[in-house]
Amino acid sequence: MDQKVHILGFAGSLRKQSYNRAILAAALEMVPDDASLEIFDLERIPPFNQDLELQPPDKVKEFKARIRAADAILIATPEYNYSIPGVLKNAIDWASRPYGDNAFNGKPVAMIGASIGTLGTARAQYHLRQSFVFLNMCPMNQPEVMVSFAQDKVDGSGRLTDEKTRKKIRELLESLVAWTRRTKLADEMQTKKLAA
Ligand SMILES: Cc1cc2nc3c(=O)[nH]c(=O)nc-3n(C[C@H](O)[C@H](O)[C@H](O)COP(=O)(O)O)c2cc1C
Repeated sequence: MDQKVHILGFAGSLRKQSYNRAILAAALEMVPDDASLEIFDLERIPPFNQDLELQPPDKVKEFKARIRAADAILIATPEYNYSIPGVLKNAIDWASRPYGDNAFNGKPVAMIGASIGTLGTARAQYHLRQSFVFLNMCPMNQPEVMVSFAQDKVDGSGRLTDEKTRKKIRELLESLVAWTRRTKLADEMQTKKLAA
């Protein structure tokens, strides 16, 4: 894989002053030279209705197309009631359907998350990992980026100012690019082996 690694990022918060949107915006400033990052906004994705999964709304069609065009996925998740927000789960459910047309299939994925509490979305991130199993994604294990006390690390204009957190996000992006290249290489080798 010689070309740039294209990453699609989205945040599970619709809040304008969202800390998770802020850390995703910070990631945009720190993308490695051999990668690109595009942010998709989950706003206006309607509640999932299985009656509509064969003719999904345009916003869902667009979301699935952006996922398919990406080499890797980066999810910024808040923690709601010890799990992931409904907005995020809803978007994932749409993109995984109908059965056999899961846009996430085989995609490398990494997570970041910010909360105002001490654990920095740890519980939400581990719930999200569980969904990656059925989605057949390739989750990166480390580094983990769990931003606690986000209110002290993001300023009034929504800029992530905490240098340690910025460094961790930069490391995660570099690792995701390497992880994506490794995953692609393994896929290519497997395809060659099967064809031989
Ligand atoms: C419905 C709801 C449930 C929440 N549950 C948790 C929780 O379980 N653990 C936690 O650390 N914070 C919890 N919070 C606080 C969030 O960490 C905080 O609102 C955070 O700023 C949300 O992310 P955002 O800034 O990206 O919108 C909850 C907030 C809401 C609105």
